[in-house]
Amino acid sequence: MEIIKLHPEIAAEIRGVSMADVAHDDNAYRAVRAAFEEHSVLVFRDQPTDDQVQVGYSAKFGPLETAKVASLGEGTPFSILTNVDKATGNLVPPTHKEALRAKANQLWHTDSSFRETPALASVLAARTIPGVGGETEFVSQRATWNRLPQSLRAKLANSYAWHSYAHSRGKIDPSLASQREQNALPPACWRMRWRNPVNGRDALYIASHTYAIEGMADKEALALIDELAAIATAPGHSYEHTWKAGDVIMWDNRASMHRGRPWPDDKPRYMIRTTIAATDADGVAELRPPRKAA
Ligand code: OGA
Ligand code: MN
Repeated sequence: MEIIKLHPEIAAEIRGVSMADVAHDDNAYRAVRAAFEEHSVLVFRDQPTDDQVQVGYSAKFGPLETAKVASLGEGTPFSILTNVDKATGNLVPPTHKEALRAKANQLWHTDSSFRETPALASVLAARTIPGVGGETEFVSQRATWNRLPQSLRAKLANSYAWHSYAHSRGKIDPSLASQREQNALPPACWRMRWRNPVNGRDALYIASHTYAIEGMADKEALALIDELAAIATAPGHSYEHTWKAGDVIMWDNRASMHRGRPWPDDKPRYMIRTTIAATDADGVAELRPPRKAA
């Protein structure tokens, strides 16, 4: 296996080991898992178009999430991100729910921080790429953490923030998250520092979904969240991936943020994501707020 770094702070390309190798071989899995713990974003090129390989690969890393309520792929392991209407084969208009969801994915975030169990990792495969635009951009939240002043790190290490799907969708359109989605996805609260139990490295845990911090006035909390996001995504700190057909990217939701980039409305884009839920072995227990005395 060869590991080629793509940016000084985050991301590496894996060569010589395929996703199918990882699905079928424990040694291949261990090597790729170690690279994942180290580099946070792994790029695989020239992978076969095979949903079962994607599931087999992903399942090695932990339990798979099922796609959200009211999403394309609901209830299956596959989240579909596309502007192509399955029934007609036509492109959806820019006001369509799936087009607005793509806009929400263009806000810096980490996946599933609004869920009852946050995500360890996401695996995104490009099936149809628009040819222009539609890149995906990543920043390291370990690098962000290390850029913060020590006093702020000490405070955030013991701060707990609230994450909500409705909050991030509301930034695009107040009615984008339906009542049914809001009922299925109540807000979740997590420590603002996620420590990797394998290597002890700390990362800032925030997302477009973050809207409040325990024990802080709303206005002050939102200002701090904005300030942290600005530090995280300052110019020069991101790896931007220009997709080629056959590319698959896995990222560590504990230690990075990502965003999609826009592409022309008249170009089709079709991506398939599997998502791996985090377990206590991935550091979730430490993320939960201490239980309040009754
Ligand atoms: C995702 C995501 C961005 C993109 O799949 O979780 O945010 O570029 N995707 O499609
Ligand atoms: Mn995402």
